[in-house]
Amino acid sequence: MINSLEKAELVINRENADRFLESIVELDAACFPLHPWDAGIWKGLFDHHRLLVYLALRQKQPVGLLAVSLLPLEAELLRFGVRQNVRRQSVGSGLLDGLVRELTRLSIATLFLEVREDNRPACLFYRAKGFITVGKRKDYYCNPRSSALILSYRVAQDNVPPRR
Ligand SMILES: CC(C)(COP(=O)(O)OP(=O)(O)OC[C@H]1O[C@@H](n2cnc3c(N)ncnc32)[C@H](O)[C@@H]1OP(=O)(O)O)[C@@H](O)C(=O)NCCC(=O)NCCS
Repeated sequence: MINSLEKAELVINRENADRFLESIVELDAACFPLHPWDAGIWKGLFDHHRLLVYLALRQKQPVGLLAVSLLPLEAELLRFGVRQNVRRQSVGSGLLDGLVRELTRLSIATLFLEVREDNRPACLFYRAKGFITVGKRKDYYCNPRSSALILSYRVAQDNVPPRR
């Protein structure tokens, strides 16, 4: 399915999720080999959240994914990963840029996420992008144990059109 597309990015929602589920699950396992989410988990997310999944494509192959749950006034980043062999090549930055454009269009001003405190690459990424720490859940994760940081990103208010 993806092979027939020329785009650099795909946006997947509940309506077209079935077509891309296999690609999402495969890419998720490549990005998160220790804790992959199977098709059942992804289906549940599409069923129970207003979920958007952004897939970054290189030579028509999915190399990065970002999943976000949209609420009326805020959004929560649920999954964000890039294939190991293309990290530090701005794939993650491109995915986040695409999401911020969509949040701006939807007048959603705040993006939240949880990250393991010991996940140095991710913490450095979020810091570089302007996320700030707004909370901490001590020893939230196990295997191995780590606290969770709750980060928040303010979508530029200047860019957010007034809600109708
Ligand atoms: C976090 C992640 C998605 C970043 O994706 P990426 O495509 O590698 O990020 P980018 O190339 O766009 O990096 C943008 C900036 O973030 C910072 N950054 C990203 N990875 C970094 C690292 N390993 N070390 C230091 N800084 C880093 C840098 O400032 C970088 O800019 P630069 O390359 O010009 O110095 C990727 O590391 C990943 O998939 N990690 C494994 C999954 C994961 O832990 N996800 C987060 C769960 S909350």
